[in-house]
Amino acid sequence: MTQTAPTPADPPTQPTVSNVFYRSSKVYPLAVRGEGVYLYDSEGKRYLDGSSGALVANVGHGRAEVAGAMAAQARALAFVHGSQFTSPVLEEYASRLAAFLDLPGFRFWAVSGGSEATESAIKLARQYHAERGDTARFKIVTRIPSYHGASLGALAASGMGARRSLYLPLMREDAWPKMPKPDPTLSGEADAERLRAVLEAAGPESVAAVMVEPVVGASDAALSPGAGYHTRLHAICKEYGVLLIADEVMSGMGRCGAPLAVRLTDAVTPDIVVLGKGLAAGYAPLAGLMASAEIYNTVMEGSGAFKHGFTYAGHPVSVAAGLSVLDIVEQENLGTAAQERGAQLLAGLRELRAKHPQVLEVRGQGLLLGMVLGDPANGEAHETPGLAERVAAAARARGLITYPGSGAVDGIRGDHLLLGPPLSISAAEVGEMLAVLDEALAAGRKSTS
Ligand SMILES: Cc1ncc(COP(=O)(O)O)c(C=O)c1O
Repeated sequence: MTQTAPTPADPPTQPTVSNVFYRSSKVYPLAVRGEGVYLYDSEGKRYLDGSSGALVANVGHGRAEVAGAMAAQARALAFVHGSQFTSPVLEEYASRLAAFLDLPGFRFWAVSGGSEATESAIKLARQYHAERGDTARFKIVTRIPSYHGASLGALAASGMGARRSLYLPLMREDAWPKMPKPDPTLSGEADAERLRAVLEAAGPESVAAVMVEPVVGASDAALSPGAGYHTRLHAICKEYGVLLIADEVMSGMGRCGAPLAVRLTDAVTPDIVVLGKGLAAGYAPLAGLMASAEIYNTVMEGSGAFKHGFTYAGHPVSVAAGLSVLDIVEQENLGTAAQERGAQLLAGLRELRAKHPQVLEVRGQGLLLGMVLGDPANGEAHETPGLAERVAAAARARGLITYPGSGAVDGIRGDHLLLGPPLSISAAEVGEMLAVLDEALAAGRKSTS
């Protein structure tokens, strides 16, 4: 394997000759090891994983107990197909998850990634209505902006213009009515009331479900609605016979300081909860959905099977990783840790906002935090495409990984950085993140790293 020569600023350690289909034409460091909140590349450079990859590595890197649980499971039973067997590890995990999330009677449908999970939720909502003879319902209402995944159904559901536009010919637009994003200037209830007009315009008898991210992730930097929003949203859904799907792929499993972000301010139980990322915290591909007993029973007492499935669904080794990660989340009280370290990080980000005028806003819940970036010169929000990428590059050169994004304003304009280190991060490590961000904001503003 041939390697490029490293440069001092940001060692390009990706091989020059490779058969890997990379995500983009940029040069990637070669990651070789992870421990705690840190990743190490082949040149020995250390990176603080300030975004847990893409908000995935909730329990930190290099946990021997998770690796051990996966190895033991692989030795005992590596694979069974979901059409032929269930397994002890899947049975135990589903019960533990329902208890942890306080979703009694809910059923866990396991898949390998968030897109498969939202895709499953979309299809389950459609089938649920069809089983009841309500075959006219198929539309899924989502918000602009939003991100629910990259597979065609999940992408069609997503309100992210730049990621969708190429594939529009493959999408039936009327199937995915869009509602506006949360507006923090409104009360939660008034904000949610705006769903009513969207349902009326779509034809409420044709709508199967409303799907929202309780705390928005990649499309709009940790934006969240006010208290009462989700309760009212669910009430309106019920009124129209529509299901509420909470997409907690990014926000769930303690990331926002509670098992489910949808319950941070509201006592609400959605009909379907979608999970991913933090479930197995990156140790194995694991995602899924929790469906209410009413939905499950309707399907099983109707046609008798969910008309959907993936080969690797419920993979025992992935589920064993999930179970071990759940042990850690509970034993180390990582939901509370996310609240405490999140408060520290948010306070630090507010100080950075006071110091760096291109930071227009900081926000978020627990350790799902966002910085909205923009041009301070004209005072206009979101007018600087590329700013987030520049700040992220400057941070990475200084050993801090962040998750930049754009498009929150109109699909193209609108820059932000998502910040979300492992929930196990220490106070000192949060301080280290803030110090690097301070430097990176100054450097990114000048268009250099
Ligand atoms: C809220 C939400 N839903 C779904 C997905 C898709 O998950 P995956 O990338 O694992 O397919 C993501 C990924 O970022 C997400 O943030």
